[in-house]
Amino acid sequence: MTSVTREPCDPVTGESVASVTDSPADSAGDPGVEPAAGPTEERLVDALANGADDPAPTSASPVEDGPEAGVPAPRRARVAFMPSGRRGTFDIGTPVLAAARALGVDLDSVCGGRGLCGRCQVRLPAGEFPKLGLVARAEHAGERTRVEARYARIHGDFVDARRLGCQTRVEGDLVVDVPPESQVHRQVIRKEVGHEVLTLNPAVRLYVVDVREPDMHEPSGDLRRLREALAREHGLSDLGCGLGVLGSLQKTLRSGNWRVTVAVHEGREILAVRPGYHERVLGLAVDVGSTTIAAHLCDLATGAVLASGGAMNPQIRFGEDLMSRVSHVMMNPGGDIELTGAVRGAIDALLGEVCLEAGTEREDVLEMVLVANPVMHHLLLGIDPVELGGAPFALATDEALATGATELGVDAHPATRAYLLPCVAGHVGADTAGVMLAERPDLSEAMTLLVDVGTNAEIVLGNRDRLLACSSPTGPAFEGAQIAAGQRAAPGAIERVRIDPETLEPRFSVIGREGWSDSAAFAADAAGVGVTGICGSGIIEVVAEMFLAGIIDADGVVHGEHAARSPRIVVDGRTFSYVLYGDGSNNGVTVRVTQNDVRQIQLAKAALYAGVRLLMDRLGVERVERIRLAGAFGSHIDVKYAMVLGLIPDCALDSVSSAGNAAGTGARTALLDHEARRTIERIVRGVEKIETAVEPDFQRHFVDAMAFPHRVDAFPELGRVVALPARPASADPAASAEARRGRRARRGARRG
Ligand code: FES
Repeated sequence: MTSVTREPCDPVTGESVASVTDSPADSAGDPGVEPAAGPTEERLVDALANGADDPAPTSASPVEDGPEAGVPAPRRARVAFMPSGRRGTFDIGTPVLAAARALGVDLDSVCGGRGLCGRCQVRLPAGEFPKLGLVARAEHAGERTRVEARYARIHGDFVDARRLGCQTRVEGDLVVDVPPESQVHRQVIRKEVGHEVLTLNPAVRLYVVDVREPDMHEPSGDLRRLREALAREHGLSDLGCGLGVLGSLQKTLRSGNWRVTVAVHEGREILAVRPGYHERVLGLAVDVGSTTIAAHLCDLATGAVLASGGAMNPQIRFGEDLMSRVSHVMMNPGGDIELTGAVRGAIDALLGEVCLEAGTEREDVLEMVLVANPVMHHLLLGIDPVELGGAPFALATDEALATGATELGVDAHPATRAYLLPCVAGHVGADTAGVMLAERPDLSEAMTLLVDVGTNAEIVLGNRDRLLACSSPTGPAFEGAQIAAGQRAAPGAIERVRIDPETLEPRFSVIGREGWSDSAAFAADAAGVGVTGICGSGIIEVVAEMFLAGIIDADGVVHGEHAARSPRIVVDGRTFSYVLYGDGSNNGVTVRVTQNDVRQIQLAKAALYAGVRLLMDRLGVERVERIRLAGAFGSHIDVKYAMVLGLIPDCALDSVSSAGNAAGTGARTALLDHEARRTIERIVRGVEKIETAVEPDFQRHFVDAMAFPHRVDAFPELGRVVALPARPASADPAASAEARRGRRARRGARRG
């Protein structure tokens, strides 16, 4: 059905918009859907091979009752859409967008066919398509219309080969290519972030409508007529509408001259109404870590990250690690309110920062998705985290949470929604849910280990059959804390270390300074950053290199006899240290690795390994096939050294890699694709939670894991690429087993 629509002035351009156009919603064109006759054209074959559906039947039929006698049959033409492969037969004059809708083809439209949004762009290849049984000619789509010419004038990127689907009419047989950027549900590839692929299917979508003006003879409320327009033009029905929107609706409708852009959440609720045509809808993905908070401002229409920002978590002033913050709350009445205010303030400031950077308004941000560890999650929500400080580590809620952003103290549009991914368990948070959503171990055939190392290591192990999760108290050693010369990863920190096994002389690299310490570039850069300490990745490497060079043994003891070989082994009270930088005196900066440093690393890595081992026991597996290390620590450590120390179990090194900021990626995934929220809620419900604190085997695994790389477990894959020192008798599994048998026999004899 063709209709004549009222075309008020375009509020964007001030021009009059097309005077007569088909509203695609009501001019679906009576498609005759062609049977999916043998997929013949090459791309059609591909499309179908890739899972494209057969053309969906529609309510219209090719030739319904047939023409009445004497009435000429309407002329019809065949239209095939690519890459979906859907095709049908339509009346001449049907807009391409209407044909796409009738066939269920995924072709976007915000402006409802007014030639404003440009989301419906298509390509119309001309030529013979024998396998589709049609010949498409340029004239079958007519000339570019006045509306398209106007769109091209305003938008320089509207290339000649493109047409607006809403303005282009079927004048003969056509093949219509729908490019990825014109599809509502599509994948976006972020090349700048390791070719990350995200699906675009946001919860908030914009719809332009022309609302009927009030009529004395047919009285009805403005909201009713707005809803009618949304149903008529976009097929949206039963939409909820809050008081916030209703309060300003009348002014908005009139200032937009009855044309408005409506933001609708999950097809169910009107979030915001703006006068005229408005094309910006943004979302914020936030990863609330104990140390840092990172935020990404995303365009929900394109998936593009418009701006990113990060800030130190201001809660650090209440305690470096999570448990000290929980202690602060326990010891100080009202402490939870202070901590909540601090984290909310930081998120609010970050929102302001990224909006400024992107040149946009807070008002345009209508969605937020947040991930956080359990303590941060509770504090952000204003929930006292004390229960998480002790067994049984009960969460206030382990479900996903949807609330208003203003409820979280964020100065945003009153209707902005906030979604928090679900926590997995008392020590395994929504950040781990984010990692799982980014990594999807539930789809993997390979036995996959995900580790997010922080002051607590959050661990997930499994595959598509079963997933287990736990956390292990690694402490802050991996972040450089509790290490004599430890510091955060900042300019001046030693981050890479090599030790010559013959001379025991080290060379190293420093954050912010060129080259290795024995290179000319390093010396030339002497005026730049000085050496100030050693960060997490540096401490991992230096301890691993000390082990490989024989300075420490498998039990982690710094052997004093090496002092005769190298002045770098120095007495330090009753133990020995290794001087990595400086002269070992207290003059100037000296970076020395003490016996206590090695112990701290042993304790941290043993906790991590024991957690992994518990999950392996539960799953009944002896090896993992793939390891992904999430978080900043995982991004910076050399996986080979992590394995030399025994942080992670043996695995082919090329199957061990960094997952980057996977928790943040998970937040962005859920921001851009609201279906992903249901997915992660389902995955988290199915995860089996293991509480390491009550597992009797944890202690045994922990003790065995204190050795480098492990007292019992073999590392054959690592052994292929690294010459590991021979195990001493105390660490030899066979000798240990023999000793255990001996002890058991002696105990038995005594009892007897
Ligand atoms: S649907 Fe908006 S320009 Fe075609």
